Amino acid sequence: MSEFQEALADAAAATETALLKLIPEGDGPESQVIDAMRYSVMAGGKRLRPFLVLATADLFNVSRACSERVAAAIEMIHTYSLIHDDLPSMDDDELRRGNPTCHVKFDVATAILAGDALLTLAFEVLSDHDTHDSATIRSNLVLEVSRAIGARGMVGGQMLDLVAEEHVLGVSEITRLQRMKTGALMNCSCQSGAILGKASDTQRHLLSAFAHDIGLAFQIADDLLDIEGDEKELGKATKKDAAAGKATFVSLLGVERARDQAQILTDQAMKHLEIFGEKGNLLKDLAQFVIERRN
Ligand code: IPE
Ligand code: IPE
Ligand code: MG
Ligand code: MG
Ligand code: MG
Repeated sequence: MSEFQEALADAAAATETALLKLIPEGDGPESQVIDAMRYSVMAGGKRLRPFLVLATADLFNVSRACSERVAAAIEMIHTYSLIHDDLPSMDDDELRRGNPTCHVKFDVATAILAGDALLTLAFEVLSDHDTHDSATIRSNLVLEVSRAIGARGMVGGQMLDLVAEEHVLGVSEITRLQRMKTGALMNCSCQSGAILGKASDTQRHLLSAFAHDIGLAFQIADDLLDIEGDEKELGKATKKDAAAGKATFVSLLGVERARDQAQILTDQAMKHLEIFGEKGNLLKDLAQFVIERRN
């Protein structure tokens, strides 16, 4: 295993330990929603966003006790977004992370509630004293995350993604859509690590440029995998975007140019990390992994 693969596996293991602790098994009749939350967060996944939080926080030697809780909170938000993305009224998917989607395993109402509860729990964790003893840092985290995932960020991107089924989009419009839908949460993962690490404005700016580039590269890879990926390896249905008339970089540029564009973005992403020297190597490796991944 390469150093990067080991770091990714360690980040996933640490996140899973934190998630299990933060979402203990419930009792009483309402525990069905907790079962659904635990089911979806523990169903696997690459844990890329937690890795971004941890690796960024590590640049500034932040205590893992703090960064692992923030990583788990961001993974809760990501999982909520996937549960809702898979609903029949959205992408209508039955397979996620190699398992039945939350609404298939439970039911639609439970899946909606599990998503709601994961989102809410994430903010409880971010604002909890156990996450950081500075109230300023906690409120900066809450502000950063709220801005990234609402109507001007991830949720707005999901709306554009649905609206785009009825419209022809150009490159700049697709770029905006993907930056909001996928890039915002990735950027917020890096920014959260930087907030914990009390990074300077310059460092935060460079990390933001890095995250935006890998966010777009990541989404191009996701769109390519929808066309070329193997459903078993990927753990989710393929060939859905074209069928749904989704506007993607691949639908616009074609496979070859989209792949070239992803590599250009990755190279550019790595350049933004030069100021961190060798310490930035794991994040650079992640940038390359994002476009080479098979799932
Ligand atoms: C899938 O994200 C959803 C998108 C934002 C395109 P990931 O590919 O990171 O999903 P998991 O967490 O590994 O399942
Ligand atoms: C999902 O995008 C993005 C969010 C959940 C915010 P996709 O719909 O492309 O993700 P997959 O392909 O279902 O994983
Ligand atoms: Mg979708
Ligand atoms: Mg989807
Ligand atoms: Mg997709």
